Amino acid sequence: MDDSISSPPSPRVYLETYGCQMNIADSQTVNAVLRRAGYAAASTPEDADVILLNTCAIREHAEDRVIGRLSDLARLKSKRPGLKLGLLGCMAQHNRAALIEKAPWIDLIAGPDSYRRLPEMLGREGFDPAIDVRLDRAETYADISPDYEDGIRAYVTAMRGCDRFCTFCVVPYVRGRERSVPPEDILREVQGLAERGVKEVVLLGQTVNAYRFSATDFGSLLRQVAAIDGIERIRFTSPHPCDMSDSVIDAMANEPKVQPYLHLPVQSGSDKMLAAMQRGYTIAEYLDLVARLRRAIPRLALSTDIIVGYYGEDEADFNATIELMKEVGYDSAFSFKYSVRENTRAYKLGDSMSEAEKGRRLAEVIALQESISLQRNRALIGETFPVLIEGPARRGVGMLAGKTPQFKTTVFPGREGATPGSTVNVRIESATGHSLAGSIA
Ligand code: 5AD
Ligand code: SF4
Repeated sequence: MDDSISSPPSPRVYLETYGCQMNIADSQTVNAVLRRAGYAAASTPEDADVILLNTCAIREHAEDRVIGRLSDLARLKSKRPGLKLGLLGCMAQHNRAALIEKAPWIDLIAGPDSYRRLPEMLGREGFDPAIDVRLDRAETYADISPDYEDGIRAYVTAMRGCDRFCTFCVVPYVRGRERSVPPEDILREVQGLAERGVKEVVLLGQTVNAYRFSATDFGSLLRQVAAIDGIERIRFTSPHPCDMSDSVIDAMANEPKVQPYLHLPVQSGSDKMLAAMQRGYTIAEYLDLVARLRRAIPRLALSTDIIVGYYGEDEADFNATIELMKEVGYDSAFSFKYSVRENTRAYKLGDSMSEAEKGRRLAEVIALQESISLQRNRALIGETFPVLIEGPARRGVGMLAGKTPQFKTTVFPGREGATPGSTVNVRIESATGHSLAGSIA
């Protein structure tokens, strides 16, 4: 008899991911763990036997979204009591007690270091939810090859966790201590990706440039990845300014595959705020780093993260942030209203500013960055950049989209031979604050 007919159908899992690149990469590891254990992927929640949400805890807003989604899913579960609902990731780790109170119908809660045990947890029967939020200083999932999505770019985890404990940030508590993946495992993953036609890898870690595994530091890891044939572009995110060593700058400057784009979170332009946040640098040091980077890496593009309304931020501190943004001239910036997080060092301080004032400051930061981005992008009109083609553009028949080395989205009319994964020279003809447009030169 045909096996596929006699064996019971595989249980189907629907996995939804919230938050950062790291969570997207973790979800690919979760998919690999579950596939090995005999689970199949469901294409919608309605088709699933198990629904998992991989969650984010960085700001309250991220948690609110998940709580909202959980109540939607509770309706599905009330129609189908056999359906299992689980919460993974940072919010599961951060908030388990509150979660069980708010959503008592949850069957499973698993933190970022517990994904190996998911099959066992899902197999457990009983009235109480299965909970595993042990953090494990050694867990890197180095031996588990993630189920990567198709595409010309892949994200590869180089290190996990964070040891910096910035006062506002929950990451060290929910993702645990810093640990690096052995270089041979990273190289094996990248080699496999190259063989599948991936052209660009993005090395991931909460403070990715703090990477160290015995004698291999992050600069040396970049060089080893660059030696792999078939990989054309290497990026990484997110580096911490304090870990931007000469070795890393040297790899960016001298290894042509390492692209001239850096996301360098500054958080605030005020030394008083930086000290309060325990960021580990002053504005003078940050600006000196930017100057060294720009000297070493021609045409470097820079982006950043900015928090407005951290505890004690006064008008002068905020103005210092505005001045810093003008001085650096970032290509783009991600800006956030400060959100008090339980467990962090700053938690006990609470908020010193109303939501309305945070909103006003955020709007000012966003408007300023829009104008800086637009100005910087417009200055590129008339220049030609190698664009690695990713696929059809979201809009426009026959239009293609890809990125310049500086990670700027560029759209242009296709032509024969211009296929995803190939690189074409595109002459820039117009620009918005968010993208470039042109035609193949
Ligand atoms: N409130 C607002 N923004 C935060 N970030 C981290 N923690 C908080 C918080 N409590 C921002 C920082 C960080 C980015 C990933 O999220 O800017 O760099
Ligand atoms: Fe959070 Fe600071 Fe670690 Fe970044 S470096 S993850 S902001 S604690």
